[in-house]
Amino acid sequence: MQSGRLGACLMREPELVADCMAAIGAAVSVPATVKCRIGVDDQDAEASLFSLVDLCAKAGVTHFVVHARKAWLKGLSPKENRDIPPLDYELVYRLKRARPDLTIAINGGIADLEAAEAHLAQVDGVMLGRAAYHNPGLLGAVDRRIFGEDREVGAVEAVELYKPYIAAQLASGVHLAAMTRHMLGLFHGMPGARGWRRILTVEGVKAGAGLEVVDAALAAVTGAAALRAQDERAAGSLEAGEAA
Ligand SMILES: Cc1cc2nc3c(=O)[nH]c(=O)nc-3n(C[C@H](O)[C@H](O)[C@H](O)COP(=O)(O)O)c2cc1C
Repeated sequence: MQSGRLGACLMREPELVADCMAAIGAAVSVPATVKCRIGVDDQDAEASLFSLVDLCAKAGVTHFVVHARKAWLKGLSPKENRDIPPLDYELVYRLKRARPDLTIAINGGIADLEAAEAHLAQVDGVMLGRAAYHNPGLLGAVDRRIFGEDREVGAVEAVELYKPYIAAQLASGVHLAAMTRHMLGLFHGMPGARGWRRILTVEGVKAGAGLEVVDAALAAVTGAAALRAQDERAAGSLEAGEAA
């Protein structure tokens, strides 16, 4: 990445980034946005973040997503660079306060919607990376909690809504696993989650696997939920009997 002058090392070349953004902005009809770190290595984070944002804003960029930690290019792998450099949310809040006309979204280590809501009191948006990937079911509550809609989309409903897309992709030759591998965490922490993952990972990779695998995996989840509800009802009536 560094030899190719790609990725976080571009925090060292804000003029180049701004030139690129001007060219990108002129070439596309959608907003050209920037996702950046707060700095790299021994840079002063405040100076490097503001310099990148201000130069890009001059080039016409209005929307920034800031991963609120430095990247340490010497000695850390990309994976370590997502966890080890400390988070500095306050710096991103200061950026928003100092540049109120820009749209500033925050990213990095935000684990759930409670945390997202707290950040939204300070900035315009939140980007969830690993939380959304490992526990995508949490996205079903976003429209209600963040955007004020009146209902949530449950995980089972989300799969049902996704099935027509899966069917269309299967029909055009995409393997089932290419889609189901991103759904493995959907029932995270819920009864039947293990069965869901097992069926999708074992059956979903077989040649010719189709929607019947998704239905079988869903049945594992809904069956487990029904069993748990039955157990809870039985435990409830036992307790009621003991109390009587
Ligand atoms: C497997 C993986 C690949 C990633 N690839 C990119 C990438 O190509 N470009 C980028 O800006 N961020 C990339 N990221 C970083 C995320 O966009 C995000 O900034 C980072 O995971 C921190 O947010 P989180 O704590 O919510 O996960 C990647 C993250 C993961 C886990």
